[in-house]
Amino acid sequence: MKVAVITGAAQGIGRRTAEVLAAAGYAVALIDLQSSAAALVAVQTLGAEAEAFTGDISDEAFVTATAAAVIARWGRVDVLVNNAGISCISPAESTSAALYRRVLEVNLVAPFLLAKAFGATMLEQRSGSIVNIASIAGLVGIGDRSAYNASKHGLIGLTRTMAAEWGGFGVRSNAVCPGWVKTEMDVADQAGGGYTDADITDRIPMGRFASPDDIAQAILFLAEPAHSGFINGQAIPVDGGWTSDGSWQSLRLRKR
Ligand SMILES: NC(=O)c1ccc[n+]([C@@H]2O[C@H](COP(=O)([O-])OP(=O)(O)OC[C@H]3O[C@@H](n4cnc5c(N)ncnc54)[C@H](O)[C@@H]3O)[C@@H](O)[C@H]2O)c1
Repeated sequence: MKVAVITGAAQGIGRRTAEVLAAAGYAVALIDLQSSAAALVAVQTLGAEAEAFTGDISDEAFVTATAAAVIARWGRVDVLVNNAGISCISPAESTSAALYRRVLEVNLVAPFLLAKAFGATMLEQRSGSIVNIASIAGLVGIGDRSAYNASKHGLIGLTRTMAAEWGGFGVRSNAVCPGWVKTEMDVADQAGGGYTDADITDRIPMGRFASPDDIAQAILFLAEPAHSGFINGQAIPVDGGWTSDGSWQSLRLRKR
């Protein structure tokens, strides 16, 4: 039995990832602040063993108790997907220290707590794959996102450090860096007036948003030792070419 833990599994990228890993034969532990009931039914319908845990991943006591419950039930953990995260679109000059700290707590400190809690068992097993969901905002600067971008840059730094520290024990750490994905997060950010669909699709060589499935398939690849067993410490953009494209706008749009 292979066991995967996915945070932020109630919706969006996390929910799709749970479904993809369930279909690939994993038992799945679904962690979210809100109820994962619908995602739980979806993965069980796919034939997977599954359990949902509801709580805040920035709360160390909740993380420790959840890891203990997962290990008590299945006795091992093969994959940790640190996916839960919060968006924050706010000009730097008007971002409060409290808001900045909250974004770091959820997007950067919590993945560290989860890596520690589940990593203990992975180290004993001398195997495991940690997949951190960063962003292209972890690779380049994007205006009005000081807290979010710092958290995602930090998450890539954590990924590289864990790869260096735990690679010798057979525990791999990698990051997936999505471009813009059509999820509830995008709906909320657009509703706040942050940007439009065209702002994004015009900027991407492939001319479309990512789907949650685009991201989930990259996560499955990094989860599976058979496919990515010697990939460790990498931050892989899944962005339709965004971060590789230095073209000016009219040149890019001429190629459609
Ligand atoms: N949507 C995008 O365009 C995009 C782009 C790049 C990176 N990402 C990253 O991908 C990840 C998933 O994004 P999404 O678009 O699916 O987001 P989403 O907002 O649709 O879903 C995130 C889930 O995480 C949960 N969550 C939030 N805070 C939590 C906490 N403290 N404890 C437990 N659960 C918590 C939410 O309840 C929600 O179910 C995030 O880390 C996000 O930063 C998203």
